[in-house]
Amino acid sequence: MTELSRIVPSEITAEALYRGRRLFLAKAATLLSAGMGPAGAMASEDAISRYEEVTNYNNFYEYSTDKKAVAALAENLQPNPWRLEVKGEVERPRVYDAHAVGRDFGTEERIYRLRCVEGWSAVIPWTGVPLARILKAAGPTSRARYVRFVGPHDPARFYGQRSRRHLWPYVEGLAIEEAMHPLTLLATGMYGGPIANQCGAPVRLVVPWKYGYKSIKSVVSIVLEEARPESFWMRLSPEEYGFYANVDPEVPHPRWSQAREVRLGEMRRRPTLPFNGYAEQVAHLYRGLDLRAMR
Ligand code: MTE
Repeated sequence: MTELSRIVPSEITAEALYRGRRLFLAKAATLLSAGMGPAGAMASEDAISRYEEVTNYNNFYEYSTDKKAVAALAENLQPNPWRLEVKGEVERPRVYDAHAVGRDFGTEERIYRLRCVEGWSAVIPWTGVPLARILKAAGPTSRARYVRFVGPHDPARFYGQRSRRHLWPYVEGLAIEEAMHPLTLLATGMYGGPIANQCGAPVRLVVPWKYGYKSIKSVVSIVLEEARPESFWMRLSPEEYGFYANVDPEVPHPRWSQAREVRLGEMRRRPTLPFNGYAEQVAHLYRGLDLRAMR
């Protein structure tokens, strides 16, 4: 965990200025007292993005394709109560109260880079449950090779779903080895509090080495399957959006380069890192495979 593991106290303090000093210092203290230290938090070396930036520039097509409009529209999300089901090729299908998942399985703090396929990025402190814990509790059968994640479908609440341009609900998928990887998180909180509606309350997937579109918001079902699921973006534009979607600066999007990115709140463009900087942790998953062919 070397490359992910450093966060300097000054970064925590900088964020505290924006989010309430006591909350953030309390969180840092909890990490330290849990014996995890900053390393256990799997922080990134980069400065944490401001909460205001991360919550006012969002992709959440269930509401709008206008990133700056999402925050206001998502006020009606109603994250409580929220059913989260785990089903399909499992021995023990279950329905959870999404708000109890953290308590049932235990949460961890993770500071991850998020790199959108559009060329912007952020560094976000999440709280969440390593997805592997939830999957193992369900007991995948020998036929479980993929995991499909499904978002909400309710055009009465999610205004963007009244548009027929997209095929709802939002769906994403991972190979089971990716879903079981220790970096894969079912986030239950952010910045020391709950997930903001516009960021995918109450539970959201975070897969930091893949383009942000894999990190599906407001998950309602997790379905283990034998066949590879087709995602929302693959259905919309298969030439542009692949299943694996690992961040790769050398493979351009058909309409733009992926070599660089702009951090929210910054002007300059910085180089994009292979696997979004998590190669040391995840490259082994793809060893011997042709990454270019594995879009
Ligand atoms: N999840 C759902 N349900 N709907 C979406 O439109 N957009 C994805 C992903 N998860 C999306 C989603 C995309 S394209 C990105 S880049 C990230 O969410 C953005 O997350 P953020 O707005 O919290 O930064």
